[in-house]
Amino acid sequence: MGKVAPETFVLGQSSLPAEGVAVPQERKSPPIDDVTPEHDRYYLVDPARHLDPAHVDVEWDKLWTKTWLCAGRLSDLNDVGSWLRFDVGRESLIVCRSAEDEISAFYNVCQHRGNQLVSTDFGKSSRFVCRYHSWNYGRTGQCERVTDRDLFKAEALCGDLNIPQLRCDTYGGFVFVNMDPNAPSLTEHLGEIPDILSGYLLDEMVVLNDVVLDMDCNWKTMLEAFSENYHVHKAHPAASWVVDERITQMDFYAGGHARRITPVGVHNSRRGAAGPACAAKRSSCIGASPSKACTALTPSSPAAASNTRPALLVGGQLTPPSSMRRSVAPRAPG
Ligand code: FES
Ligand SMILES: [Fe+2]
Repeated sequence: MGKVAPETFVLGQSSLPAEGVAVPQERKSPPIDDVTPEHDRYYLVDPARHLDPAHVDVEWDKLWTKTWLCAGRLSDLNDVGSWLRFDVGRESLIVCRSAEDEISAFYNVCQHRGNQLVSTDFGKSSRFVCRYHSWNYGRTGQCERVTDRDLFKAEALCGDLNIPQLRCDTYGGFVFVNMDPNAPSLTEHLGEIPDILSGYLLDEMVVLNDVVLDMDCNWKTMLEAFSENYHVHKAHPAASWVVDERITQMDFYAGGHARRITPVGVHNSRRGAAGPACAAKRSSCIGASPSKACTALTPSSPAAASNTRPALLVGGQLTPPSSMRRSVAPRAPG
């Protein structure tokens, strides 16, 4: 597979191409033929993929229940017993710090009559008590108490009363879950991505602000919008003073991963020749607030503006429509 080495992507203000001037090869994405030789069959996207309810089932069976899903941040599970709820499609899951050095994930479903054990986004408890008939479960989902056990016939309780667990692993402070017991490990799934991201100190980042937006569209429509910069000059005119989408670099990796490098804070060749007027626009866009440059792409908070530690701004998560609800207050880095 052809791949542009990151070190070849060196920004130099004076060397940026002007509108109409060919972009140097080393600044372009690898040729599509190198990345997906079979790309002919991808040119036309079948509208059914976005509109046909039957395709939702296909995605559920082949994607959401088969891959590693980011359920949350370890920093939300600091104490033993702290947990978060992660809803994905038709499922609701509980991710819990079950021991000092252990994170467990299990279905948010009581094994008696299927009642959901938790209904809020976050919590901390020594056990999970069902609000229907008060069966008790431990931090790994194991059944610890059946109310009035003596009233049940032995055969009625002969099955496994523990809540099924899911695979759970962490990387970079993120907690991932996987519903498929046969899926490759998270390490195998991520492949070379941790190496690529090693300089970003993801483990040390803290959540300052968490934004959930409901978009009235298919999830792929939103994902595609965040996968290209081609639209910046028209859809985000303010940002077009600080982003030159013509030199965006896309890299593709095994396992379906991709990386986009977008130079920010540079002169946009669509704005004509670089000069003092452009520089003034650019500094006013960057200097005041990230949100001024592009409110659609950069959720920000007062805390983010003054933060000197690595900060993680989570938004537009790749989850199906019933994505995780969060309502935590912005937290100052400690
Ligand atoms: S449904 Fe949970 S105890 Fe009955
Ligand atoms: Fe955009």
